[in-house]
Amino acid sequence: MTRITGKTRILFILGDPVAHIIGSALLNEHFAERGIDAAVSPLHVVPEDLPRALDTLRRLRNVAGFGVTIPHKIVVIELLDSIGERGRQVGAVNFVRRNPDGTLHGDNVDGLGFVGGLLEAGVAIRGARVLQAGAGGAGRAIAFAMAEAGAAELTIANRSPDKARELAEAVARAYPACRTRAGRDDPSACDIAINTTSLGMKTGDALPLPAERLGPAAIAAEVVMTPEVTPFLAAAAARGCRTVAGKAMLLAQLRAASDLVGLA
Ligand SMILES: NC(=O)c1ccc[n+]([C@@H]2O[C@H](COP(=O)([O-])OP(=O)(O)OC[C@H]3O[C@@H](n4cnc5c(N)ncnc54)[C@H](OP(=O)(O)O)[C@@H]3O)[C@@H](O)[C@H]2O)c1
Repeated sequence: MTRITGKTRILFILGDPVAHIIGSALLNEHFAERGIDAAVSPLHVVPEDLPRALDTLRRLRNVAGFGVTIPHKIVVIELLDSIGERGRQVGAVNFVRRNPDGTLHGDNVDGLGFVGGLLEAGVAIRGARVLQAGAGGAGRAIAFAMAEAGAAELTIANRSPDKARELAEAVARAYPACRTRAGRDDPSACDIAINTTSLGMKTGDALPLPAERLGPAAIAAEVVMTPEVTPFLAAAAARGCRTVAGKAMLLAQLRAASDLVGLA
């Protein structure tokens, strides 16, 4: 456990509710393992108090920054002084740096986390054909990040097809070198199949993709963290595929968040 002193940089994770938040404990472990003098606590902020909470955080000089979770990820944008390119593309911010002059700079580190997790597992993204299930918050961040990381093709399949189409068009505009389209959830010709939906969290959930059509050389990657081995990953492993669990994304996100607030 970090020994908190007057020199310790303080961070918060703002959400409503907060009882489920574990990112604070993981970030504290991350800082402790690296000998970084920083400490994190959840902060229960209800939506109507968000502007006042941010005004206060601007003035608190030992605050390095804060994470933002449900329900603040989108509304926080209008309260910040600047946001990074990824936050703008995704339309949501999940980490904010407090600059020494009290200005607040936010960005979205979900996509960096996902790509970081794949790269650390030794997965080659450049030139890959990617099939992504889902076009929600995590899916938006991951689609832009996979295109930015050099995927050759990206097909986005989503229960609500309009959201997949809108996302595919936005990614194609931002990264024309990646052939991005909305399409069917058929993974038979992909190198990397990704679940970005919440399917797999609850017992009895349908599979996000027909895993029985994965080729044995394909890689299956997941955003869902609990259970660690989702039915999708288990089905992919049974086909002989290499798998990357949702935890890899979370761990790489911690590093991206530390970088953003200057505590790497
Ligand atoms: N590992 C990490 O670090 C990390 C980080 C962020 C999020 N996550 C996880 O990512 C998952 C998604 O989070 P999110 O914030 O992106 O949620 P979200 O914005 O609510 O999006 C949910 C996505 O799942 C789809 N979906 C939900 N229920 C479905 C069903 N019954 N059948 C088919 N599709 C369904 C939605 O499709 P529609 O568009 O049709 O509704 C949408 O594409 C959660 O499990 C979350 O815990 C993990």
